[in-house]
This record gives sequence, structure tokens and C-alpha cells, in this order.
Amino acid sequence: MKSNIALVGFMATGKTTVGKALAEYFGLAFVDTDEVIAQKHGKSIPEIFLEHGEVYFREQETLVLKEFCGEGAKVIATGGGAILKKENVSCLLAGAHVICLTAKPETVLERTKDDVNRPLLQSEDRLEKINNLMQEREQHYNKAEHIVKTDEWDLEAIIADIESFLKNNGWTVNN
Ligand code: S3P
Repeated sequence: MKSNIALVGFMATGKTTVGKALAEYFGLAFVDTDEVIAQKHGKSIPEIFLEHGEVYFREQETLVLKEFCGEGAKVIATGGGAILKKENVSCLLAGAHVICLTAKPETVLERTKDDVNRPLLQSEDRLEKINNLMQEREQHYNKAEHIVKTDEWDLEAIIADIESFLKNNGWTVNN
């Protein structure tokens, strides 16, 4: 029986906020893979992208996912590109109930309009960039076991939706 809960999904769909709330609700530990990578390097995500490049960042992401996707019951918030590698998806699906948070491109734009911490969104036409990346990634996000829309932000409703999905799939807080 899988014990972890992993949140995947595009940037600014609420993975960290929902993940923290979910962990608190169930009394579980919370891990944010970006946070772990940043802490390990003593650098921010933009600094890691700038100094080492995206390929290096993706390698680090895979290492961290392997570290946390095994045994134990915790909530794992992943970075928006974590599902791009097949091996990451296999690792996530093997060790966690994988839930994808979604939001429309316009919602992501609104939520990230002043954001300077997401290297992949630093583009002149941010909406176009979001649209393109979302389209490229849609097939990967669809590998999640459950999908939750977050455009109309209602944290309680999102948690209730996830709880009901988990319960319908035999998950309990103790397994
Ligand atoms: C990325 C998403 C970011 C972070 C990095 C790359 C992506 O995480 O991992 O900037 O490729 O979508 P968030 O989804 O938490 O913004």
C-alpha cells in the first residue's frame, strides 16, 4: 500500500500551499523537492539554474525524488517539471498517490506576474511561454491518478477533494 501523497502540476498551481495544508490536516511530514534542492546547495533555484543549468537541476530533482518517494507517509510537493522524466513518474507512482493540481494559463499568469524566482517563466511573453509549456507537459501531468482544478482557489474544498480521492483508494493516515 502506498503511503506518501505527491502533488505534481504546473508552476503556480498551488502545490506547496496545498501540500503544507494537507500535511497539517493529516498530521504528516511535508517535503518540497525544490526546497530540499535549494537547501542542499545553499542556493536559490534561479541561482542553481544560472550556475549549473537546467540539466543539472533535473538530475538533482531525480535524486531528491528517489530519496523521498520510498517508504513513509508524507506529503511531497514536486517542482512543475518533475513529471518530465519517465523514471521520476515511475518513482512517484510506485511510492505515492500522485495528485495533479491544475490551473488555466491565465490563472498561472495572474499568480506569477511579479515572480522572478521561476527561471522558465522569465520570458517577454509570459502567457505564450506558459501556454507552450503547459501544452508540452499535458500528457505527462495526465499520468497522475487524480486531477484537481485550483483556479477558483478554495483550500478547504481542495483538501476535501483530495481526502475523498485518497479514501476511495484505500488510503488511511496510518498506512
Ligand atoms: C519548474 C518548476 C519550479 C522549479 C523550477 C522548474 C518547472 O517549481 O522546480 O523552477 O520546470 O516547471 P514550481 O512548480 O514549484 O514553481
